[in-house]
Amino acid sequence: MRIAMIGTGYVGLVSGVCFSDFGHDVICVDKDASKIERLENGEVPIYEPGLEALLTKNVEAGRLSFTLDLAEAMEGAEAVFIAVGTPTRRGDGHADLVYVMAAAEEIAKTAKDYVVVATKSTVPVGTNRKVAEAIRAANPDLKFDIASNPEFLREGAAIDDFMKPDRVVVGVENDRAAQVMADIYRPLFLREFPIVTTDLESAEMIKYAANAFLATKVTFINEIAALCEKTGGDVREVARGMGLDGRIGNKFLHAGPGFGGSCFPKDTTALARIGQEHASPMMITEAVIQVNDTVKRRMIEKLRDMCDGSFNGKKVAVFGVTFKPNTDDMRDAPSLTIVPALVGGGAEVHAVDPQGHREAEGLLPHVKWNSDVYDAAKDADLVVILTQWNEFRALDLGRIAKSMCTPRMADLRNVYNADDAKAAGFEAYTSVGRRPFPDE
Ligand code: UGA
Repeated sequence: MRIAMIGTGYVGLVSGVCFSDFGHDVICVDKDASKIERLENGEVPIYEPGLEALLTKNVEAGRLSFTLDLAEAMEGAEAVFIAVGTPTRRGDGHADLVYVMAAAEEIAKTAKDYVVVATKSTVPVGTNRKVAEAIRAANPDLKFDIASNPEFLREGAAIDDFMKPDRVVVGVENDRAAQVMADIYRPLFLREFPIVTTDLESAEMIKYAANAFLATKVTFINEIAALCEKTGGDVREVARGMGLDGRIGNKFLHAGPGFGGSCFPKDTTALARIGQEHASPMMITEAVIQVNDTVKRRMIEKLRDMCDGSFNGKKVAVFGVTFKPNTDDMRDAPSLTIVPALVGGGAEVHAVDPQGHREAEGLLPHVKWNSDVYDAAKDADLVVILTQWNEFRALDLGRIAKSMCTPRMADLRNVYNADDAKAAGFEAYTSVGRRPFPDE
């Protein structure tokens, strides 16, 4: 099959590369000339494990190419995917659909034969119908069908998530479009990954509901963690005990400094907005957004306590700034709230991140960057683990403690525990939802 992919962001690029690996001919289109040039040179603009190798393999096999010209990509395409950004619109919290609608109009102008227009961008319920209307208005003679095909891949594990999905969701209006989509996903269907075929609105809603539910799960355990700190109890044990109940499941129950990233904050905000607009308030989602803000602020207070009430004049080493490991993505990372509070309070912040340094530099002014955790921790008053990169999981804690001015650690991802810290010579250790050391 021949496929055009509009947008080479996270979702578009991963989907385009993976579709070509299924054996389809894929042309990825973007308006950003420098991005297309880099991709043509086999350079991947984002950090995503495995993506560059898979891209090179499929370019060499002649199944994957890149262009600035949508008309070229549409030539003979049986399906065109819209995978452009839907950022939060400033002012009202809605998903901004300008890029989606612009793509729809350009498709209308460049398509010649029957084509399935599939939306991968996360869009509010009803958007696919608007896309269809826009195409029909711009080109009344064009024969096309519309499909909603939300994407569930996680950054850092995107290739695996695409190739071995829990499910593929396809919203369509007729059998012809369903058949085209089934042909595209045939390699997954043959390996018995479930394909959920629904109407357009259900597919659109599944995406928001899934992300909001996962964000709720994370936020719920973060609230339980705060309570554990008051009542006693270890949130990791609590999560394990809860998660073994098959109805609950053990995933997304890791307490931490609050969720971030390019999806949960944007999609919970958009869902809350959709609810308000339809006079059907999403009260749980609204609470999740509020609690997540509280969680981040609570982390700042935790750090302040570890600095005896003031950041002023303290040297703080921050390990990890990206919103999660295995990505260089800084969007809505908790570090964007926490680090400025440290700097604003007068701390000298030294940060280390295996991949995030370049992205973070402009976003976190006044931070000094180190490439080595041991250099960053030298003479520090506090070490903060903010992202659970594998590189931070087997640190020589004794070496770190010995080199610090006051050996104290705030482990906001629960990578270590109070006993590890005590044995390594730390004088104080705090984490999320677990007993600190020394115990107050
Ligand atoms: C999320 C969803 O997991 C994907 O299914 C979805 O496709 C994607 O959004 C999207 O809509 O594009 P992602 O944002 O890459 O993926 O990251 P997650 O692994 O879901 O983590 C989101 C946030 O929750 C991170 O800040 C992470 O640190 C936090 N989190 C996650 C926790 O604090 N605890 C957990 O147990 C799990």
